[in-house]
Amino acid sequence: MPKQTLRNVDVTGKRVLVRVDFNVPLYAGRVADDTRITAALPTIEHLRKRGARIVLVSHLGRPEQGSPEKYRLDPVAAHLAHVLRMPVRKMDELSGPAVEEAVDQLEPGEIMLLENSRFDPREKANDPKLAAEMARFTDIFVNDAFGVSHRAHATTVGITEHVPSVAGMLLERELHTLGSLLAAPRRPFVVVLGGAKVSDKIAVIERFLELADSLLVGGAMCFTFLLARGLSVGSSKVEGPEGIEVARRLLGIAAESRCELVLPTDVVVADEFKAEAASKVVSVEEIPEGWMGLDIGPRTAAHYAEKIAEAGEVFWNGPMGVFEMEPFAHGTGAIAQAMAEADGLTVVGGGDSVAALRTFGLEHRMDHVSTGGGAALEFVEGGVLPGVAALADL
Ligand code: 3PG
Repeated sequence: MPKQTLRNVDVTGKRVLVRVDFNVPLYAGRVADDTRITAALPTIEHLRKRGARIVLVSHLGRPEQGSPEKYRLDPVAAHLAHVLRMPVRKMDELSGPAVEEAVDQLEPGEIMLLENSRFDPREKANDPKLAAEMARFTDIFVNDAFGVSHRAHATTVGITEHVPSVAGMLLERELHTLGSLLAAPRRPFVVVLGGAKVSDKIAVIERFLELADSLLVGGAMCFTFLLARGLSVGSSKVEGPEGIEVARRLLGIAAESRCELVLPTDVVVADEFKAEAASKVVSVEEIPEGWMGLDIGPRTAAHYAEKIAEAGEVFWNGPMGVFEMEPFAHGTGAIAQAMAEADGLTVVGGGDSVAALRTFGLEHRMDHVSTGGGAALEFVEGGVLPGVAALADL
């Protein structure tokens, strides 16, 4: 359903609350990767040029209780000020009189960042009282946080009940790219799926079995599939009986579908879960007792790379192995390289695969790198995200 965007509203002089996803990795008190910050700049610049009074709100991590120092947004505000080359006022609160007063003092084009929205337990509970408090200092709400639009929280959904609410530029771009990927994929449409758990991805696998031509499986989840096929997987990480049952069911669906579900034919196994462990490449029929699979093998990687080279479009989510340890990074590296060289459209969704791409320095060689992990997968599954559905219709 088409939604209103920034282009549909006059923001000049208005107090504009922008939900951004500044859930970025921090290291030693500094922003370690600013992709999500720079991705929000087009919206921020648009608002600045038009003289809006800009109030940014984001979560950072998953603080369980209270306001732990390491989840404060001060380093993010400092980084944003650095990239924008202008001051960014950082508040220690999310709502209340201090924020209202500070917003009143904002001049057109000035920027403020509120404190981590998840310090307030009402955020995740989508408590209408929090949304109402935020509405007191907001004329227009802009959702530019694609990465968190699958969560129905006070700063993604609740606030939209109180003020005119539109999509920001990043959100619009993400929805457009992922939407066209699904609506009319260029064929062959190849999906590369990794990660740990089959049971986390059932719905998305089912959807891809309807949409794609090939589904190439890697990561720890491939061992649950191999086990479901009746192979021994040694000490590899697998799911319990329910996960195996799910994998069996998905293999059954795949057998009936026009999409081929491809599992590794060889894997890298190790005798311990550490970079210095003894390791070797074995065929999937010969995983030794006591050894664990930590990456796809070279034959599988080459086969997957061929499929990617022939694809009209590739969607990748989830690493192929434990890429953080060099001996088990080759499978993920081969996928990243094949995607970098592919002629087809290449789209990467998901935090870990994006982190992997960055390890290999290949993120700029993709056509689209989504800022959303869970959000991208939920969009693929159902096409509707609560934080998008709540925006004003066009
Ligand atoms: C993400 O990193 O995927 C988003 O910021 C959402 O974070 P969450 O999974 O903690 O809601």
